Amino acid sequence: MAKMIERMLLRFRLSGLGRLRSQKNMIESYLPIREEIVRQRSARAIQWMEFLHEAKMAPLGNAAGRPTATVAAAREAKVQALRDRYRLKEKALAQTRKRAEAKGPLSPEAIAGFEESGRKLVESRDRRIAAILAPSRRSSLSEAEALRKFLEVETEQTEILARKKAALRAKEEKHLDAIRKRAARQIAHLDGKIAALRKMVLERHPAQTGDADLPENVLLRLQNLSMRFGGLLAVDNLSFDVKQGEIFGLIGPNGAGKTTIFNCITRFYRPTSGEMFYRRNAVEVIRLNDFPVHQIIRQGIVRTFQNVELVWELSVLDNLLVAAHTVYRSGFFAQLLHTPGLRREENVLKAKALGVLQTLGLSAYAYAFPYGLPYGILKKIELARTLMANPRLIILDEPAAGLNDKETEELAVLIRKIRDDYKCTIFLVEHDMGLVMDICDTVCAISFGRMLAIGTPAAIQADPLVRAAYLGEAS
Ligand SMILES: Nc1ncnc2c1ncn2[C@@H]1O[C@H](COP(=O)(O)OP(=O)(O)OP(=O)(O)O)[C@@H](O)[C@H]1O
Ligand SMILES: [Mg+2]
Repeated sequence: MAKMIERMLLRFRLSGLGRLRSQKNMIESYLPIREEIVRQRSARAIQWMEFLHEAKMAPLGNAAGRPTATVAAAREAKVQALRDRYRLKEKALAQTRKRAEAKGPLSPEAIAGFEESGRKLVESRDRRIAAILAPSRRSSLSEAEALRKFLEVETEQTEILARKKAALRAKEEKHLDAIRKRAARQIAHLDGKIAALRKMVLERHPAQTGDADLPENVLLRLQNLSMRFGGLLAVDNLSFDVKQGEIFGLIGPNGAGKTTIFNCITRFYRPTSGEMFYRRNAVEVIRLNDFPVHQIIRQGIVRTFQNVELVWELSVLDNLLVAAHTVYRSGFFAQLLHTPGLRREENVLKAKALGVLQTLGLSAYAYAFPYGLPYGILKKIELARTLMANPRLIILDEPAAGLNDKETEELAVLIRKIRDDYKCTIFLVEHDMGLVMDICDTVCAISFGRMLAIGTPAAIQADPLVRAAYLGEAS
């Protein structure tokens, strides 16, 4: 009884700790987004000021033969278009002349005619260009007067514009500063609370190692795991440890029981016997056997399946956002009322999803639909999706299946990158031996649900049992 209360208390405190951490994370991740919103707002205000300035100066500038920058640019574009048009006309004339020449020598009158046409074209072009560039005069002021007025107003207005811009920039800086200070205050406050709660948990619940004496560096332990389907023993008394931060490979011939092991860990299957322990955080080891399948992801365990499982009707970005559902802290009413807190959270998660897509080189597909995308890309999208749930352990069932050599090489780089960048542990099943030997720190070989050998890739490759059973060599 006392032990049960103790466990409940611990769970309560740990969930409090989780909430505080995610609050802090939210503030930290939202800060850059908020800063960007402020910057964009003042950039828009400055654009508007410049537009008004331009609108005021354009007529005066026209009258004084001093077009404003926008007017000048528009005229320049017009002149360019006109030149292009006349170039075509000249080309057409030259061709007509060539065709005439092909029929026989031209008479002097014909030559004169062609030359006259050419001259006319040039004249007409220059006349039209001059007309475009000429100052348009609608005011009754004399030229000198118009120029004087223009210069006077321009000096004054430019000064006003500069002052307004400076004021806006200062306001923006002040605003940003206030936002940053406020975030820093909130974070410091949360840090204090987190440290206090963490200290309390560590003091009152010294290392809860569950029922197993799990070493500090072990993330997952399978202990005498067996899974029987009727008369078939798919997993046979299997025990091994997966260490924190490693890439752990499980290999074995078809039907060896690899997917079954994954299904036991993620609770799709209920193992016939044996136990599974998992280090949920610094102080708590949980017995996975006690958790239902839908709670597994909340413990930080995510998986991909042997075949691609995406929501085909949603864009790639939305597929990622759906996967982040366990990370949402806003409740039912926040969703119903679409509160600012929820919007903030959505912005943060969207930024995170875009970041993940960028890490995996998938930015170009963010708004695409998965249907019809190359298989290699779909596999990467699945990987990206696992990262949205803040995983500690990522379980991959044959990530390289169906990929070509180049895609497999890319995948190897990506899996390592994910492990390093997102500081998680990777547990994979794979038939591609090149990939397994290349990226895994530890490899475990099984056959008919039984352990053959476990060790470094080199040791596994050299192991006579593995060679005999798996690689089909005589031992
Ligand atoms: N739900 C089930 N009911 C009955 N038998 C099952 C079930 N799931 C798996 N098996 C059997 O258990 C054995 C192990 O299957 P499992 O899918 O784990 O193999 P695997 O190592 O993943 O193979 P592969 O490399 O082909 O994916 C197989 O003989 C399979 O037929
Ligand atoms: Mg399988």
